[in-house]
Amino acid sequence: MKKVFRVLVIHGPNLHLLGTREPEVYGRVTLAEINQELQALGKKLGAQLETFQSNHEGEILDKISHSPDSIDGILINPAGLTHTSVALRDALLASGVAFVEVHLSNVYKREEFRHHSYLSDAAVGQVVGFGKQSYLLGLQGLIQHLGAL
Ligand code: DQA
Repeated sequence: MKKVFRVLVIHGPNLHLLGTREPEVYGRVTLAEINQELQALGKKLGAQLETFQSNHEGEILDKISHSPDSIDGILINPAGLTHTSVALRDALLASGVAFVEVHLSNVYKREEFRHHSYLSDAAVGQVVGFGKQSYLLGLQGLIQHLGAL
């Protein structure tokens, strides 16, 4: 029987505001819509998804550190923590779980402080700049990496 991959989707700080937050940068799509489309794609690809959003770094670290035995991969938009958080990098490395980093916007076209990620060199891959498609492409890449496709 084909293995069902269990994927934890993490949305970092301020992503609960999608839809109204800087629409010229992030578009009008809401987090609920992104999660819905991810769930639908996950079903098609034979993956089981749990989605999680938090504005609190510590909550995200706790979620990651409690998860390694119950998940196969992590899809993460670390939002602002991308550019600031050694602790998030450490938590992901400590978990030993393969992860893909995604961003709605093309961070490399934006302010210079967004050009550096504390996670990208440890990620399976990074998808940036495609709006909600970044998540969907990232999920496909992660599942392919995990060996499902
Ligand atoms: C973001 C890019 C980050 O620089 C920013 O802090 C975010 C969202 C994106 O999805 O484009 O909050 O991760």
